[in-house]
Amino acid sequence: MSAQDYIVADISLADWGRKELDIAETEMPGLMACRSEFGTSKPLKGARISGSLHMTIQTAVLIETLKELGADLRWASCNIFSTQDHAAAAIAATGTPVFAVKGETLEEYWEYTDRIFQWPDGGVSNMILDDGGDATMYILTGARAEAGEDVLSNPGNEEETIFFAQIKKRMAATPGFFTRQRDAIKGVTEETTTGVNRLYQLQKKGLLPFPAINVNDSVTKSKFDNKYGCKESLVDGIRRATDTMMAGKVAIVCGYGDVGKGSAASLQGAGARVKVTEVDPICALQAAMDGFEVVTLEDAAHTADIIITTTGNKDVITLEHMRKFKDMAIVGNIGHFDNEIQVEALRNLKWTNIKPQVDMIEFPDNKRIILLSEGRLLNLGNATGHPSFVMSASFTNQVLAQIELFTKGEEYQNQVYVLPKHLDEKVARLHLDRVGAKLSKLSDEQAAYIGVSPNGPFKPEHYRY
Ligand code: NAI
Repeated sequence: MSAQDYIVADISLADWGRKELDIAETEMPGLMACRSEFGTSKPLKGARISGSLHMTIQTAVLIETLKELGADLRWASCNIFSTQDHAAAAIAATGTPVFAVKGETLEEYWEYTDRIFQWPDGGVSNMILDDGGDATMYILTGARAEAGEDVLSNPGNEEETIFFAQIKKRMAATPGFFTRQRDAIKGVTEETTTGVNRLYQLQKKGLLPFPAINVNDSVTKSKFDNKYGCKESLVDGIRRATDTMMAGKVAIVCGYGDVGKGSAASLQGAGARVKVTEVDPICALQAAMDGFEVVTLEDAAHTADIIITTTGNKDVITLEHMRKFKDMAIVGNIGHFDNEIQVEALRNLKWTNIKPQVDMIEFPDNKRIILLSEGRLLNLGNATGHPSFVMSASFTNQVLAQIELFTKGEEYQNQVYVLPKHLDEKVARLHLDRVGAKLSKLSDEQAAYIGVSPNGPFKPEHYRY
């Protein structure tokens, strides 16, 4: 282990990062309340957390909160473009090992993911905090390979080839590492829809070896971060990348789940005329009744100036679609992985890099498109992700989930859980003051009439918000 246990772009950015961290703290009341409530009892004392989540200013406040609660941490970003180098520097400067550089290569990405499990004393982590599931998949795939399963022989694409190569490298360097590491994990807390989908698939196949908390499906996460977060950060990303006039333009949003709803609202708020594509009739009807034209991409591809994917699915924008796009159409993705757009199929065309994370791609007929962040999530690649306030709600759920699994992990089965509703309501409650919201109180008679306790939970489990 080298003496310098971190990799950041420029450690001299730490002072700037610290100033922005100080501002972010004033916008993250949930995390600051966790520090007040648990800072003395230190429920995470003894926790060794491997974190894989966009290394932003907001994440820095999360890291320092977990640290104040007693945890030791090692951190990497969960996307090659999402790191804010000043945030990474500020955290590295405090002595918490962080491995994250905006624009790192895929090889570096997997090497850094490995580094979050390599403790200087040769010990292992006992918790994972994941966003998208890559840290979890790294350990579980490696452990299966160590058990002799043939899981590394058929990479589906270049990224998987690099992922498998990193696993093989670690297997050769430290025999038995993945199995030891897997067996030491008390639990994983997962941030996003895509990572949660991966966990449920593992559970279904009987391959989940530890309990998991699905942070995404706390109401105060997915109905806020995914929706109101994207409402602010989608247009921010497009503007910082292109400075294009949004008003009057035609935009297509593929997918009308939580991220799609926020994204469509974002573009509409900027004055764009928004169309939506969906496969789910319920979400399609919601889009129509929210006032958006619901179309198929096949029919509408040629009409749009801006096309954004939000689905968490693959091959949503195909080469065929892109052939139909207008000259200079702006194409981007705000879902977790880059396979929503068939970027690989564009590689043999003419690329002109305009600036970091903005490329112009020319088709043989001279038609050009502007691709943002090479198809990776553009709000974090081209801008700075969601604002602090909404991330405070998400990350307060993360903190509560880490405490729950670290302190009571043995009470859970190897399944995926969501936090109980009273904690979800608590997270919301912690954010009311900052926006000047005053809560009404139920009288005992009113509470009895609607069948709830006057102090909550206020809704049954099946309520959808
Ligand atoms: P969701 O499941 O609520 O919504 C996805 C929607 O896409 C669904 O309604 C689904 O029916 C639709 N869909 C699936 N395939 C489609 C296709 N071929 N064409 C049109 N629509 C299709 O998921 P959510 O929470 O909206 O998340 C979406 C993605 O965004 C996930 O990958 C998630 O991890 C990511 N995410 C990104 C964030 C960011 O800051 N960039 C924040 C939160 C989530």
